[in-house]
Amino acid sequence: MTTKYFFAVFHLLGLAIGLAAVYARWRALRNAKEQGDIADVLHADSWYGLAALIWIGTGLLRAFGGMEKGTDHYLGNHWFLGKMGLFLIVLCLEIKPMGTFMAWRAARGKKTPIDLSKTGTLATLTILQLPLLVLMVFMAAAMARGL
Ligand code: HEM
Repeated sequence: MTTKYFFAVFHLLGLAIGLAAVYARWRALRNAKEQGDIADVLHADSWYGLAALIWIGTGLLRAFGGMEKGTDHYLGNHWFLGKMGLFLIVLCLEIKPMGTFMAWRAARGKKTPIDLSKTGTLATLTILQLPLLVLMVFMAAAMARGL
């Protein structure tokens, strides 16, 4: 019971961290005009990465680790499948930003300048994820209440 409780708490904390981080990354990208501004983008991105780890780690164990209603229940639940479908879209939108920020981190390590010409596209790819994450919360609550 205690483990189940803490996994539920961390899953929700992932939500709080993730929504704040995705917004902060979007804002930092929009304000990134010079090399010194990159730190804010990468800082927000690190928090978003942490949220993703928490979501996936706790979520998969809750769904398929026998913690809640069991694998069969979730695989046959349209809200769960819808929620996972949205998460898949979020992951697809995240491919380019994730690759870019990895390259930026490597460039910063080597002290080479970072190309800031794509910040607009990266900001768009970031903010598009926000409504999808909010929609996932609607689906999660419906799923949890057996609607
Ligand atoms: C691999 C990713 C994920 C998996 C496998 C997963 C799985 C789950 C499971 C099994 C539950 C428990 C539902 C129940 O009580 O029957 C849950 C609850 C919840 N999930 Fe996720 N989740 C994932 C990602 C996310 C993300 C990205 C968000 C937010 C954007 C999210 C938001 C929520 C919320 C808000 C609840 C609580 C619902 C409630 O009790 O009202 N989950 N999730």
